Amino acid sequence: MSSRNKIKMTKPVNGFSKLNKTEKIEWLAENYLTDNKEAVSILEQYWNEDEKLQKLHDEFIENTVSNFYLPLGLAPNFLINGKYHVLPMAIEESSVVAAASKAGKFWSERGGFKATVINQTKIGQVHFLFKGDISKLEKLFKDLEPKLREAVKPITKNMEKRGGGILDISLKNKTKELDHYYQLFVKFDTRDSMGANFINSCLEKFAEVLQKEASTAEFFSTEEKDLQIIMSILSNYVPECIVRAEVSCPVDQLSEDKNMSGEQFAEKFVQAVRIAEIEPYRAVTHNKGVMNGIDAVVLATGNDFRAVEAGIHAYASKDGKYSSLTHASVENGIFKFWMEIPLALGTVGGLTSLHPLVKLALDILQRPSASELMEITAVAGLAQNFAALRSLTTTGIQQGHMKMHLMNILNQNAATEKEKEEMVEYFTHHTITHSSVIEQLEKMRS
Ligand code: MEV
Repeated sequence: MSSRNKIKMTKPVNGFSKLNKTEKIEWLAENYLTDNKEAVSILEQYWNEDEKLQKLHDEFIENTVSNFYLPLGLAPNFLINGKYHVLPMAIEESSVVAAASKAGKFWSERGGFKATVINQTKIGQVHFLFKGDISKLEKLFKDLEPKLREAVKPITKNMEKRGGGILDISLKNKTKELDHYYQLFVKFDTRDSMGANFINSCLEKFAEVLQKEASTAEFFSTEEKDLQIIMSILSNYVPECIVRAEVSCPVDQLSEDKNMSGEQFAEKFVQAVRIAEIEPYRAVTHNKGVMNGIDAVVLATGNDFRAVEAGIHAYASKDGKYSSLTHASVENGIFKFWMEIPLALGTVGGLTSLHPLVKLALDILQRPSASELMEITAVAGLAQNFAALRSLTTTGIQQGHMKMHLMNILNQNAATEKEKEEMVEYFTHHTITHSSVIEQLEKMRS
């Protein structure tokens, strides 16, 4: 058993956040790790030599002890709405960037991707309980909107200058689903920012005003005056912030394999999409493939991939059953493949002007607006799904996947550069599995 696997008596700690970085690491090594020296050296190995840059990273979150690297890859040749793009992708999965690049090139030779933002409205809610006469609450609400708008003016002023702001405020009665439960349901236009802080600040102010107005409303009873705010928060479900991405070409241009015609390929491909449309077990994996492309671009551009994931998967269930995000058809000899998804992204605010690699990723994308980034990101998802389905319905996924994974297996087994070279050459003609790689490596070494 390696010293790393030995179990230590673990214990709780008070005031951890007050310790400095070195003290935190010492405490961790002392109490949770057996090989203190190794632990410290691994954490320190990932510190940036540039102290200013390291401090910037330290201050992104609390209790930072090191940096956690992900590879940043480039997928070139993405022709989107007539313009070429190189996609920056931050992802650990071996085959994703290779698959995206292949799909990008394939479609660039067939007219490219078309993408359109359909709408860009974001939602926030003040959730509250009101025990009383609904008509009185409605009466209060009638005079409330101008007061709400006035109260958030200091917050909305700049957003309004940029053409955004609050689009609509409505009162929603949810008492049929939960006793006494109502919402202020607010629609926002946050322009090029993702807008989470803007939305949440507005909502918290709204909550304050609502509570104050209720507590002083002369026509409210004592119980009605006791309106209770539960919480104020944006929704990551954004079904009115939708982008569409699509590709199409004559079916006879689809096949690159002499054993399969374009018609046969299209038929199998459309069938694979239909399966994901009706079968949730398959739909989840199918959509996971879409998210391989989306998350990688979302991460590289400093956006919130958890918000994007939550919103997209909720959208995939909008008809009451989890289903495919993408759709495909063949009509009059034309193959069409498309997707409409919700994507709340920002190209200003948040990490976009802070993290040097995020800034660079946005430079690589030619400083897109939020709507252009929505288009590019949706295309990355569609391309990734195309690549996965093309492999799945032709060669199978493992051929390409294991080709890319070969290097991971070699690194896990401490292969030298020379061994790697020889192994890559050997496996261009042999099937890659974990055991075949180990077997061949051992043979070579003996
Ligand atoms: C693997 O990361 C993604 C796939 O499983 C997607 C799919 O099955 O469509 C290959």
